[in-house]
Amino acid sequence: MSAPPVPVEILRLGSAHLDEIESIERRAYPTPWSRTMFTGELAKPTSRCLGAFDVHSGRLAGYVIASRYVDAWHIMNVCVDPDRQGHGIARVLLERLFALADSDGRQGYTLEVRVSNDRAIRLYEQLGFVNRGIRRAYYTDNREDAIVMWRDEPDDSDAP
Ligand SMILES: CC(C)(COP(=O)(O)OP(=O)(O)OC[C@H]1O[C@@H](n2cnc3c(N)ncnc32)[C@H](O)[C@@H]1OP(=O)(O)O)[C@@H](O)C(=O)NCCC(=O)NCCS
Repeated sequence: MSAPPVPVEILRLGSAHLDEIESIERRAYPTPWSRTMFTGELAKPTSRCLGAFDVHSGRLAGYVIASRYVDAWHIMNVCVDPDRQGHGIARVLLERLFALADSDGRQGYTLEVRVSNDRAIRLYEQLGFVNRGIRRAYYTDNREDAIVMWRDEPDDSDAP
C-alpha cells in the first residue's frame, strides 16, 4: 500500500515546466528522455501532458505524457520524483488523464513497460490495464523486453 495521498494539484504542463521535468526525469530513469523529446510532446495538439504540483510549495512532483493515435491514447511517460514516490501521485495523474481523455470520446489506452518494472506494472494493473503481449528487445539501452498493456481496448485496435 502507498502512503496516504499528498495534496497535489493537477495542471497542464507547458514549456515553463521543462527545467523541473528534466530534473525529475534524470533522477528517476537510468535512460531519461531528452529535453527535445519533452518539447516535442508538449507542442503536439494530440498530446495530453499533465503535471502534479505540490499545493504547498508549487513544485512539480510528477507528470504523465500521453498522445492520441487514431482511437487510442498512448501513454508515453509516467514519472514521479523519486523523493515523492509511493504517495499515490501516479495514480492521481493517470485517473485525471482518463477523466480528461474520456471526455474526448476516446476509450482505449495503451503503454509499454519494462518486464522488470514491477512497481509500474502493479500500478497499471490496479488501474485496469491488462497484459496483451510482449515486444522483444524493445528497449535499446539494454534490449529488455516490453510488456504491452491495454485498458478499455477498442474492438478494432491493432493490438496483438
Ligand atoms: C512507477 C511510478 C510512476 C509509480 O509512481 P508512484 O506515485 O510512486 O505510484 P503510486 O504511489 O500512485 O502507487 C500506485 C501503485 O503503484 C504501486 N507501487 C507504488 N509504489 C510501490 C512500491 N514501492 N512497491 C511496490 N508497488 C508500488 C502499487 O501498486 C501502488 O498501489 P497501492 O498503494 O494501492 O499498493 C514511479 O515509481 C516512478 O516514477 N518510477 C520511475 C519511472 C518509471 O518507471 N515509470 C514507469 C514507466 S512505464
